[in-house]
Amino acid sequence: MAKGLDVGTMNLLSAKQDGEDTLFVQQRNSFVEIDYSDMAEQMLSRSDVLHIRKDDRVYVVGDDALTFANVFNRETRRPMHHGILSSSERSAIPMIKLITEQVVGEPAKPGEKLYFSSPADPIDSELSTLYHEKTVQSFLGDLGYSPEPINEAMAVIYSELADNDFTGLGISFGAGMTNVCLAYYAVPVMTFSVARGGDWIDEQAAQATGTPVDKVTSIKEEGFELDFRTDIGGVEGALAIYYENLLDYVIEHISREVNDEDVEEGLEVPVVVTGGTSSPRGFDVLFEDHLEKASIPFSISHVERAREPLYSVASGALVAARSDEEQMGEYESVGEEEEPEAEAPSND
Ligand SMILES: Nc1ncnc2c1ncn2[C@@H]1O[C@H](COP(=O)(O)OP(=O)(O)OP(=O)(O)O)[C@@H](O)[C@H]1O
Ligand SMILES: [Mg+2]
Repeated sequence: MAKGLDVGTMNLLSAKQDGEDTLFVQQRNSFVEIDYSDMAEQMLSRSDVLHIRKDDRVYVVGDDALTFANVFNRETRRPMHHGILSSSERSAIPMIKLITEQVVGEPAKPGEKLYFSSPADPIDSELSTLYHEKTVQSFLGDLGYSPEPINEAMAVIYSELADNDFTGLGISFGAGMTNVCLAYYAVPVMTFSVARGGDWIDEQAAQATGTPVDKVTSIKEEGFELDFRTDIGGVEGALAIYYENLLDYVIEHISREVNDEDVEEGLEVPVVVTGGTSSPRGFDVLFEDHLEKASIPFSISHVERAREPLYSVASGALVAARSDEEQMGEYESVGEEEEPEAEAPSND
């Protein structure tokens, strides 16, 4: 057994193999703080509400946070910001730990391999991912796993580009960040991130139109399309403008970051876009259109969107964990073969 985990600013998702199928467990990476006295005891006693009680405060975490925030008229808070643990949220670590525990469950055996996604250092801000990565690794270790970080965009290459020898450009458009990786035959030759994603689009569109951010987010997630027939002056019009701006921003950084040495001459690579922010209809076509117009130092065969944008990072982390575990298994069995007593009797 092995597991994959996508540690995202908005969503935490685990993946494990079950026969032919992959099983996912997902929770929203958010929480809400409520006075215990305000809380009807029976609301909490619903056994599946994830929460911690601390003195007279109750913290409801994960998917239920949003419901409780609405009922008690509170704001949800998030353990992560811009792809990493939030430095301004004092409860970040205990909250993300609790959500993670629920999402990954107990290890199937002590030291079960678990690959978790970690972003690359952003090139447009001072943020460093080291503290975040080490903290997540440490509490996964405390749960009994053998945790290994995997670059978020490399995980996309593992999940989406197996048919192309793990060669191509993978881009994960998340909530807090956009992660990019160019890989040749499963070797990453360039990885970077920018500290902009869906949250940035929402904040900009909210500010431009004087609409609350939560309202903008729900308009965006419910049927918004990048067809450019949308209303000028409305929220959808503003969303389209900032979507286009984010794409250009990412493309500009790709052409700046890729050096001639990174690129094998004459090779044409596919591009895969994924992550929640890549969901609206028309996203892949718009991205391809803008990429064609940019000067990129390598040829692109085509742009495709992952079939399930919210699941690809967790799936890719699982592929990495399973392949690591298989290699360990092979290594162990090679070791065993050296022991003459351990040899299986021959039947022929
Ligand atoms: N149907 C949809 N249409 C548009 N945007 C969506 C849709 N569903 C989710 N999103 C947006 O996708 C983002 C969440 O995507 P995802 O789960 O890939 O991010 P994350 O992994 O949590 O964040 P990050 O990788 O930046 O840390 C949010 O900004 C959310 O609003
Ligand atoms: Mg992500």
